[in-house]
Formats: sequence, structure tokens, C-alpha cells
Amino acid sequence: MKTLITGATGQLGRLVVKHLLDRIPANDIAVSVRTPAKADDLAAKGIDVRHGDFDDLALMTEAFKDVETVLIISAEADNATRIKQHRTAVDAAKAAGVKHIVYTSIVDPRADADFTYSAIHLDTENYIKQSGLNHTLLRNSFYADLLLAGVPHALETGDFGAPAGDAKITYIPRTDLAEAAAVVLAKPDDHINATYDLTGTKGVTHAEIAGYIAKATGKPVRYVDLPAEVHTGILTAIGLPGHLVEALSGLYVGAKKGDYDTVSQDFKTLVGRAPQSVEDFISKSLAS
Ligand SMILES: NC(=O)c1ccc[n+]([C@@H]2O[C@H](COP(=O)([O-])OP(=O)(O)OC[C@H]3O[C@@H](n4cnc5c(N)ncnc54)[C@H](OP(=O)(O)O)[C@@H]3O)[C@@H](O)[C@H]2O)c1
Repeated sequence: MKTLITGATGQLGRLVVKHLLDRIPANDIAVSVRTPAKADDLAAKGIDVRHGDFDDLALMTEAFKDVETVLIISAEADNATRIKQHRTAVDAAKAAGVKHIVYTSIVDPRADADFTYSAIHLDTENYIKQSGLNHTLLRNSFYADLLLAGVPHALETGDFGAPAGDAKITYIPRTDLAEAAAVVLAKPDDHINATYDLTGTKGVTHAEIAGYIAKATGKPVRYVDLPAEVHTGILTAIGLPGHLVEALSGLYVGAKKGDYDTVSQDFKTLVGRAPQSVEDFISKSLAS
């Protein structure tokens, strides 16, 4: 019986596979991907590459055959589509006889959160619980990696902009979240029906983040508190879909209310060390 990771050709999925290979043999690992050709490198390592898509229950059920534990990595779509996709993945796991579902959720999942994607995660968490299968919920905070998108503009203009006010957000590197997932997948029986809040070591403001970028690059960078409508206009102009613009805008509205400032020690308990700080992450990312 294998341990399977969905979305293994995505950024988080690839990192989970990398960290899991440090813990269990390649021939105990399977992945389910929408485009198997993109996973040739994983097949070459001895990983069982399967074709799966959350839009196709029969295909997904076939992909989950002979799998004991599955990591369902949340997909990317509008709320109604994604809720349906995640429910399909859970239904497929149950139909295929999977014993344990691990799911990448979000910190503080709520139906009424300003970060609109939060409602998807609440629905999926509840659906997993109702499935009756063993489960582990990984409530991931926001990727520190997302902050790097604003760096080229900040270095060009000196301005690091966001509609964040002085909100604190517990950003955490994606690779740390992947390692926490791998720890759970390597010994799922130690984490039956557990929920983990996986946050950074502290909440950081965007003014602090601008300071980290300035320190790492030696260039003058200051935080600019963008009006919400300017931020929304920029995201729309670069072609992001409406549901993503709504979610990213809402993230800052919620953050200003203190939604993403709660620090948890769960990462340290799971992995045995603190996550990399945002300052260190930015320093190392901009040095390479
Ligand atoms: N906590 C945060 O800050 C944060 C930020 C961004 C996203 N997220 C969430 O975390 C997930 C993983 O993050 P990431 O950085 O790895 O994103 P990513 O690189 O965009 O990867 C998303 C993965 O989801 C897969 N996927 C999309 N639709 C699917 C479907 N219908 N059926 C099966 N798989 C599907 C994609 O498959 P392909 O490889 O075939 O495209 C891809 O592997 C995201 O999808 C999103 O839900 C969290």
C-alpha cells in the first residue's frame, strides 16, 4: 500500500515529494497528476506516477487504488468549482479504500472570512470529517514565497506596496509547509484526526518586510500602504481571475482585523525545529 500525493507537479507538491523521499523509499510513494509527462523526473526516481484530475471521479478513484494514505493538495479555481473538486477527491478516496486523508487547508478556515477561499477549506475539512476516514488537517498559513513577487518592483522604484496597513501575517516558507506534510505522511498513524496550525515564528508587517528586502539587497525600499482599490486595479490589470483578485484583496482586509496574526507551535512540534523566519527566507532567497 502506497502513500500518494496529488498535485505533485505543483510547487508545494514537488517539495512534499522531495521531503518525503528523505523519509520513505521511492517505491512506497505514488503521485496523481493531471499531466503525467510533467512527472517523468519523479517516475525516473521510482515513484509510481498516476493520472488524476479532481474533475473526474472515475479517474481519481482509479488513481487512488492500493493507496493507504493520500495527501490532497487543494486546487486552484473559484469557490464553487473548487468545493466540488475537493469533494470529488474525498469521494474517490473513500471509493478506492484509502484509509487516511491528509489535506492542505488554511489557518482559521471560516465561511464568513474576508479571505474568500477560506470558505472552500472549511467545506473540505467538514466533508473529510464526514467521510469517516482517518484524517489530518494541515492548516497552512500564507507562503512567504508570495512576498518575492513584489521584489523586482520594489528594487526598481523603492516602493513595496500592499493594502496591508500595519497588519501582521504569520508567513511561512512553502518548503517548511511541505516538510511538515512529509513528516505526517511518513507516519500517519501518529497523526490520526489531528489538526495542525502551521504558521511562521511571528506575524510580520509589510513595513518590516520592506526593511528585510532593503537589508538583503542594500537598496532603499519603503513600504507603501496602497488604497484597496489601487491594489485591486493592479491585480486585475495583470490578468488575475476575479475570484483570485477577490481572495487576495480579502486576505488583507482580514489581516487588518487580526485574522492571520496567531502564532502556533505546531510546526515545531511536528518537525522538531522552528520554521525559517521571513527575514531569513528573504535574505537567502535574494542572495541566490
Ligand atoms: N497558503 C498559501 O499561501 C497558498 C498560496 C497559494 C496557493 N495555495 C493553495 O495551495 C495549493 C498548492 O500550492 P502551490 O504553490 O503548489 O500551487 P501550484 O503550484 O499552483 O499547484 C497547484 C496544484 O494543484 C493542481 N490542481 C489544480 N487543479 C486540479 C485538479 N482539477 N485536479 C487535480 N489537481 C489539480 C495543479 O495540477 P497541475 O500540476 O496539473 O497544474 C498543481 O499541481 C494551491 O493549489 C492553492 O490551493 C496556498
